[in-house]
Amino acid sequence: MPQIEVGLGERSYPIWIGQHILADLGSALDKVEFPSKVALVTNPTVGDLYCEKIVASLVAGGRQVSVIRLPDGEEYKNINTLENIYDVLIDRRFDRYCGLIALGGGVIGDMAGFAAATFLRGIPFVQVPTTLLAQVDSSVGGKTGVNHPQGKNLIGAFYQPKHVHIDVAALTTLPQREFSAGIAEVVKYGIIRDPVFFNWLEENRAALVAQSAEALIHAVMISCQIKANVVENDEKEQGLRAILNFGHTFGHAVETLSGYGVIKHGEAVSIGMVVAAQIAYRMGHCTSAEVDRIRELLSYFDLPVAPPDFTVSEYLEVMQRDKKVKDGAVRFVLNHGIGSSELHKLENLEVVLQEILSQ
Ligand code: NAD
Ligand code: GLY
Repeated sequence: MPQIEVGLGERSYPIWIGQHILADLGSALDKVEFPSKVALVTNPTVGDLYCEKIVASLVAGGRQVSVIRLPDGEEYKNINTLENIYDVLIDRRFDRYCGLIALGGGVIGDMAGFAAATFLRGIPFVQVPTTLLAQVDSSVGGKTGVNHPQGKNLIGAFYQPKHVHIDVAALTTLPQREFSAGIAEVVKYGIIRDPVFFNWLEENRAALVAQSAEALIHAVMISCQIKANVVENDEKEQGLRAILNFGHTFGHAVETLSGYGVIKHGEAVSIGMVVAAQIAYRMGHCTSAEVDRIRELLSYFDLPVAPPDFTVSEYLEVMQRDKKVKDGAVRFVLNHGIGSSELHKLENLEVVLQEILSQ
């Protein structure tokens, strides 16, 4: 079974990737000396599908398990929902020698991770991601948190898990649109950091759409390796880690302007990556043939690639509020060819966007 180590000194942790490995969670937890009293945080959708198998594996290994089911949906990713977790932990007398397990997509992972970071000033936690997006992105790297009415993920902490347990078999129950949204992040890794992986994605796209376990394991493994490497070099996003936001600056604007939930995050990132590549082309960082390759690969995975019909000033206004804005200038991650990327300060964004949107 492929295993990756996220190397962060005493906060290092393994990522296990395989097919039908949910039942191995108990032995994985033993290897990292995870506590025996645990709470499994999930939602009804994922819980109904996978809780029984996981609880059985944990109980067979001698663990005492409380299950906490949070409502399903991004709209519940807030401080109020977190209280459900804290209430159960306090009622059931969880102490510093207990642990949390997040079973679900990025919403559950971010909330359970933040609860673990803050309960008693930090208890250990483990990620069992069940969406493709969570498997290749949110479960790795330690960003945890919740939304505030004023914006996404405004309240949070960097807090690394003790173990990440990825079973690609869980993806068989994932709705098709969620699967495609996750693929956008996979393609992102190839564009920003790994030309060989991008070629591999082009060559193996049919196997991925058919959800071949072998192809999925490879794609998830390389994605996690790339993310782990970036996080090892810049855990708290002081520089390099910003490249993981490729496609996100414009993508977030698409999400905000369309109304949250209308366009999925991965779909918005797909549109944002094509816009970023078009900007990169205009600034001489890539060729038009490379922009076409990016667009074609994303389209193959049924991802949208054309910006919705908002005006340049609407897009600009939202992008001015992006977390990467510094001294008033919007900063954009741009690809350099395919397989490399950098954060750029864009002075002439309005003109460039005007050209791209009027095409
Ligand atoms: P999600 O967690 O809302 O999951 C999408 C839907 O799929 C949900 O309805 C969920 O219940 C369902 N689901 C999950 N696994 C399933 C399965 N195996 N079978 C059937 N249904 C399943 O969405 P997501 O795309 O996984 O995560 C999005 C969240 O992740 C956002 O809140 C975003 O801010 C966050 N995020 C965090 C990071 C990070 O670094 N921490 C990175 C990217 C995104
Ligand atoms: N998803 C971006 C990051 O983890 O930095």
